[in-house]
Amino acid sequence: MTRPAALARITAEERDWHSACDTPGPSNVGISEESMNVGISEESMFNPSLSPEHKALRELARQFARNEIAPIAAKADRIEEYPWELVKKAHAVGLINITVPGKYGGGGLGYFEDCLVAEELSAACAGVYSSFVASTLALTPLNIAATPNQMERLMKPFCAEPALASFCLTEPSAGSDVASVRTRAKRNGDTYVLNGTKRFITNGGVAKMYTVTATVDPELRHKGLVLLVVPSDSPGVSVGKKEEKMGQRAADTREVIFEDVQVPVENRLGEEGEGFGLVMETLDRIRAEVAAAAVGVGRAAMQAAVQYSKEREQFSEPISSFQAIQFKLADMAIKVEAARLLVRQAAWLADHGLRNSYESAIAKCFAADSAMQITTDAVQVFGGYGYIRDYPVEKYMRDAKLLQIYEGTSEIQRLVISRWLLKS
Ligand code: CAA
Repeated sequence: MTRPAALARITAEERDWHSACDTPGPSNVGISEESMNVGISEESMFNPSLSPEHKALRELARQFARNEIAPIAAKADRIEEYPWELVKKAHAVGLINITVPGKYGGGGLGYFEDCLVAEELSAACAGVYSSFVASTLALTPLNIAATPNQMERLMKPFCAEPALASFCLTEPSAGSDVASVRTRAKRNGDTYVLNGTKRFITNGGVAKMYTVTATVDPELRHKGLVLLVVPSDSPGVSVGKKEEKMGQRAADTREVIFEDVQVPVENRLGEEGEGFGLVMETLDRIRAEVAAAAVGVGRAAMQAAVQYSKEREQFSEPISSFQAIQFKLADMAIKVEAARLLVRQAAWLADHGLRNSYESAIAKCFAADSAMQITTDAVQVFGGYGYIRDYPVEKYMRDAKLLQIYEGTSEIQRLVISRWLLKS
């Protein structure tokens, strides 16, 4: 098992990586960590600084992004094929299953750490990263609610080899409205018989294990939901055609169909009726990671725009000398830095067992909307060259759009935020 060894390596080499990470300049965009020790919300202990171990992990992810993901990102986007080799490599160095406790084969780290990895990997390719985060999304309900027996039986074998999981929530007519899920889990003795169709499922065709939201009685709405862990090779499971997407095209997104699938009751997470709360708690945690991915995409677009603006000459000057361009770059930096702090706050709360619905919704909404704005402006800085595939910024723009849609649209985030404001 390579994961503990990989994590041990982080500790052993942290000093070298620490100094490498501290190189200033646009390729190392980050907050000035030493100067920051601010209290946010009522959580006066919140500290967004990075320890040497954090910086070592971030550097591991940064190197993986540069050496393994970046070289294949454009091709994976063009041919829309999931680069499975990356899962094996990420598993070998400990960059997936990070939030799973070490005794079950995971990294034993928190969402704060996973967000550091998310930013780096997404800066190289959001499509590749979205398959990693979709897997974390599927494993998180187990982290929250699985019994030790379920962790031994389901999580441990899953983490032992390179594999992805998939979170099956959305349906043809239930996306934002989770309580409208119609996939039926009918109890029959010690099993549930599962019937229904899930739509837009990231990792749908490549997952080894699904975490499925179903209802025991649609009339009960949110009180009728259950979460079931279903191996993807269970009889009665099939997948539909791969969706042809605008962006994040490396990720495998499909329908997943359940026809009379027998799921042992012992694969249910929590009690009957606890499914909705579990889904919400899971999304609260993972929205911080999607926000971190948005920071990565925005940062990559900003770095590309900075570089290009210094090289491209018009009117006998680099376009970076024009205030119209400079202000665009400054606005990009403002958004990247602010979004990163919101990410760290939301993830920190989750790691400390504090409810973060409000903070993770703010982080996700701000970071995704910012990534959309930054990537659109980056295309503008590139002009005509930004609109063709020879340069990376059009991909960033296409990839950013999905960040405003999945794991809760920007509108749903605003709904969560405003409900908190109005009830307080
Ligand atoms: N944590 C714990 N409990 C929560 C909660 C939370 N964050 N949010 C709500 N609840 C509880 C409420 O307290 C309430 O409890 P009671 O029954 O005790 O009163 C219950 O759950 C129902 O809450 P609401 O009335 O607020 O529920 P709602 O039906 O109005 O829905 C919602 C709220 C915020 C809109 C929610 O449905 C939601 O988040 N929707 C978006 C779903 C989403 O993000 N989908 C993305 C799919 S995943 C994906 O994209 C994966 C992929 O492949 C990339």
